[in-house]
Amino acid sequence: MKKLALVLLILAVAASFSFAQRGKTFIGIAMPETHVQRWVKDGNALKAAAEKKGYRAEVQWGNADQAQQNQQIQSFLNQGAKALIVGNINTGVNSVIRDAARDNVIVIAYDRLIMNSSDFNYFITFNNYKVGTLQGQSIETALNLKAATASAPKSITLFAGSPTDDNANFFFDGAMDVLNPYIDKGVLKVVGPYPRTSADKANFQRIATENWSGPIAKQRMEGLLSGDARSVTLDAVLAPNDTLARAIIEALKADAKYRTKLPTVSGQDAEFASMLSIKNGEQYSTVFKDTNKLAEAAILLADQLLKGQTPAIPGAVVASGELAKIGNTGTKFVVTYLLDPILVTKSNLQIPVRAGFYPANEASQITAR
Ligand code: BGC
Repeated sequence: MKKLALVLLILAVAASFSFAQRGKTFIGIAMPETHVQRWVKDGNALKAAAEKKGYRAEVQWGNADQAQQNQQIQSFLNQGAKALIVGNINTGVNSVIRDAARDNVIVIAYDRLIMNSSDFNYFITFNNYKVGTLQGQSIETALNLKAATASAPKSITLFAGSPTDDNANFFFDGAMDVLNPYIDKGVLKVVGPYPRTSADKANFQRIATENWSGPIAKQRMEGLLSGDARSVTLDAVLAPNDTLARAIIEALKADAKYRTKLPTVSGQDAEFASMLSIKNGEQYSTVFKDTNKLAEAAILLADQLLKGQTPAIPGAVVASGELAKIGNTGTKFVVTYLLDPILVTKSNLQIPVRAGFYPANEASQITAR
């Protein structure tokens, strides 16, 4: 009898819980992939931030497959989502974004712009041009390019992110705005394809990395080592994020030429594995983007929009002037909120640690002497 009462009690609690859940406004969170670690963190942080504000939230990761992500978004819509936070994979997302707009669902493009779409109004991200500038500056400093001469030029090879991700253009152009003047002066030589900017689509495509895939970057680096870079010793590799930086470093380490000294390799995302790599003197730099703050800001934006308020997002600036381009989908400029990225090298590894970016066990490994 007692058992039956307990079972009934559990059922009642479960029912009232699911009733309470049903009563809550639902936010669907669609993240692009898990092979780049940051998105796992982003998804979890977004869900937690939404629940903290009293929403029901669900997160799904699309495995870098737009068809899969579209099904996930469609399922959010079927469940009655009132807002969607979307980090998309490619323009294949546009059909479901159109469906969302038709249902008056608020869509916030999260970190990645939804290209060629006019069916949404808001984008929240980091200053992606500045991310690239910081990558370029870290190479400029490490190679002491200001003092380099044309008689002893430094050499670099270039990698870019996914050609389907508009961020990859901003990262690259930011970096090249720092590096091009040295290339023009002849003190920095590019080994392999050299798109001066991302607008040189033919050459950009040659250095781009489909879906930000580590194995593809590794393979391309191996090809360079046995091809264009065979008779030079590279001083630097422009790598657009940490996942690709580590893949590139793996290829470099297998080459006897780089066994004692690796080229300067840039990165982005302050991934734990890259923080250790920087600490160990392998990867040179990363760019810290506090995605916990981005997630909180995105949910605050969703909350204000759902309540019909005029958005005001502390810690973010609305992109204007030149930076307004970051919010240009190709068919429309959307309102774009930018957070600030920070360069991290061996000398300031504590910055993301102090920001609470890692769980305790990871933090202690980064800070251990
Ligand atoms: C993000 C980067 C990330 C890359 C690969 C970009 O859109 O801004 O932080 O490293 O995608 O996932």
